[in-house]
Amino acid sequence: SVKIVVVGGGSTYTPELIEGFAGRYGRLPMGELVLHDTDEERLRVIGGLAGRMLRRAGWPGRLTLTGDLDEALDGADFILVQLRVGGQAARHLDETIPPRWGTIGQETTGAGGLAKALRTVPVVLDLAERAARRAAPGHWIIDFTNPVGIVTQALLDAGHRAIGLCNVAIAFQRQFAGYFGVEPERVELEHVGLNHLTWERAVRVDGVDRLPDLLSAWGEDIAADIDIPAELIRSVGAVPSGYLRYYYLFGTVLAEQRGGKGNRAQEVSDIERRLLEMYRDPDMTQKPALLADRGGAYYSEAAAQLVASLYDGAGDVQVVNVRNDGALPDLPANAVVEVPARITKEGARPLPLAPLAPGLRGVVQQAKAYEELAIRAALSGGRGDALAALMANPLVHGFDTAVPLLDDLLAANTAHLPRF
Ligand code: G6P
Ligand code: MN
Ligand code: MN
Repeated sequence: SVKIVVVGGGSTYTPELIEGFAGRYGRLPMGELVLHDTDEERLRVIGGLAGRMLRRAGWPGRLTLTGDLDEALDGADFILVQLRVGGQAARHLDETIPPRWGTIGQETTGAGGLAKALRTVPVVLDLAERAARRAAPGHWIIDFTNPVGIVTQALLDAGHRAIGLCNVAIAFQRQFAGYFGVEPERVELEHVGLNHLTWERAVRVDGVDRLPDLLSAWGEDIAADIDIPAELIRSVGAVPSGYLRYYYLFGTVLAEQRGGKGNRAQEVSDIERRLLEMYRDPDMTQKPALLADRGGAYYSEAAAQLVASLYDGAGDVQVVNVRNDGALPDLPANAVVEVPARITKEGARPLPLAPLAPGLRGVVQQAKAYEELAIRAALSGGRGDALAALMANPLVHGFDTAVPLLDDLLAANTAHLPRF
């Protein structure tokens, strides 16, 4: 039977994941589920709810809660990584420091994304090395920890079997399926780019591209949802992810942030405090509606369907972070991209894609170069490497911005950057 480990199991998202696995027992006979976390109290609370949910679902397996990573990894088949180094407090810095220096503050893109990468890459690589010693032969690492593109690239470059996951594609798939009134499985997205820098270039319903119909019927609705003008979407000719707002509407976002518009780290901390209170209730046996206020909708679906297909070799197509291997002709073979891939027991094999239009190509190639430099900096702990990465980031403009911004970020993050 299958052993699944969730690193960062004390996340408030864990009940989502439990739901995804509990509902797939027929396809994925999970005999043991381990929740690992460094925060004992959260592990106790989340673990309590997880246990109640699993009992209610009639799950016959064993649930283990532990703060001992090596014990957690012993014999594991699938290792789901959803840890967050420094918690929401570190995210708050990623969101608030960059606007002081003239660029947008976000936890996964721009300068904040670099700070998060510097904190996270060494921790996840250490975890993967421990897994290599202790987990089952042929184990998989499924990474949901951001920045997912960078973390997955670092894992693969270090020789681990890893696949990166994001919910942007699956959320669009569900949304578009709803518009067309069909089951989500009938909607296949031509989702291209890098994690949090992606576009839906085609929306195939039963194999036929319905993107033009989608845009004419629901273009305004989609635009309102991602807060990106419909005119912009029409001119690009593809549906951008909401993260493209930081690129296409840089000035607007920066002005909002400098005006003190609601800070997401703060909002999430509030939601989490309320969620944890609910999770403590011994009568709660299902995930509460409030969890939908987090951004990770369908994350559990994406994770559970990926693990299930890696396990039974279903050969279905899912959008994942995987080595390009020629799928996107504009990027090197070894570059991790976020694209549709066929999932078998051997892993994820990207489907061939047409080249990127010039308007997409430029920023994607630049962001990929930035990602490469970000990994180099995370591994070396060198200030010069970090500066090079920051200057290559498409959302950071110039040396004069980058230098004070980097100094500020490094100083604020010292507790989480032992290599610097
Ligand atoms: C989306 C992204 C995730 C990100 C999340 C943030 O789901 O795909 O990568 O972690 O939003 O949601 P939050 O509730 O933490 O703002
Ligand atoms: Mn994501
Ligand atoms: Mn919405």
